[in-house]
Amino acid sequence: WVLMVSAQTPTNIAVIKYWGKSDETLILPVNDSISVTLDPGHLCTTTTVAVSPSFEQDRMWLNGKEISLSGGRYQNCLREIRSRASEIEDKKKGIRITKKDWGKLHLHIASYNNFPTAAGLASSAAGFACLVFALAKLMNVKEDESQLSAIARQGSGSACRSLFGGFVKWIMGKEENGSDSLAVQLADEKHWDDLVIIIAVVSSRQKETSSTSGMRESVDTSLLLQHRAKEVVPKRISQMEEAIKNQDFPSFAQLTCADSNQFHAVCLDTSPPIFYMNDTSHRIISIVEKWNRFEETPQVAYTFDAGPNAVLIARNRKTATLLLQRLLYYFPPNPDTDVDSYIIGDKSI
Ligand code: DP6
Repeated sequence: WVLMVSAQTPTNIAVIKYWGKSDETLILPVNDSISVTLDPGHLCTTTTVAVSPSFEQDRMWLNGKEISLSGGRYQNCLREIRSRASEIEDKKKGIRITKKDWGKLHLHIASYNNFPTAAGLASSAAGFACLVFALAKLMNVKEDESQLSAIARQGSGSACRSLFGGFVKWIMGKEENGSDSLAVQLADEKHWDDLVIIIAVVSSRQKETSSTSGMRESVDTSLLLQHRAKEVVPKRISQMEEAIKNQDFPSFAQLTCADSNQFHAVCLDTSPPIFYMNDTSHRIISIVEKWNRFEETPQVAYTFDAGPNAVLIARNRKTATLLLQRLLYYFPPNPDTDVDSYIIGDKSI
């Protein structure tokens, strides 16, 4: 027999960024962060997990290609989920798996991203969140989403925020063992559903520094990172929570843009400096800044992760249409030009 479970998880975009770990193995961050989970139509991972007595070892395929599960991050997630597994019984199929059996049975895992990996868009967040969620369902783990988020966190920090839809906060926690470093939902997917997200997939020839090694170098060398984590982010987190609660777009946009810019300033303050944005990213920032200054109140927020792609958040559908018109005029999508393509989505799950 084979028992299978599938799950789908969207990625999330941080509006107050996570950058820097205090513990690399447990993946504990140096500050809280806040994100928006995208709708599952775009940038999501679908994972199927299967268990059978005929499987001889744990194996995993990503986009159809077998990958190694020997890395610490996968092993940590598998171990944590296995230790919480409980008994299941399917009388029709005549299957009974006890808590003890789960420790001995092997798993096959197949995971697909619905977007091209080559686009350089973060996939680890959706990937680890989906893996942990699917495994928890298969193994009848009784923990809630926040407790599961603390397991997904050990796969990739940002993954803990993808266990929820809507607006999500990753609380850094105080415990040394990381038990209270987990995600909570600030507002669900129905809250503030005017927002529209447009991602400009910016062409990049340069090989980017991974988030993991980039943030390690920043922690080791950037004084600005220390100041940001202790002095700046705690205030911004409470201001952002207020802005989200009140659907206050001017404050939301101001905080989102400022936090993205400070994160990239920390990257420049790293030795050697890390350049994630390129000329096209900078030109997109200028266009949005000029537009926002021209209007009475900000219309669009921008944020950039560890790469040149622009994530633009428009205050409503009308603004999103105008924004897209402008982007298509300045940066017509084409693999040979500055922007490869555009992805349009809602914030909700
Ligand atoms: C810039 O979660 O990819 O996107 O924990 O080492 O796997 P690891 O890093 P990762 O870092 C994400 C960094 C970021 C900001 C954010 O998502 O908060």
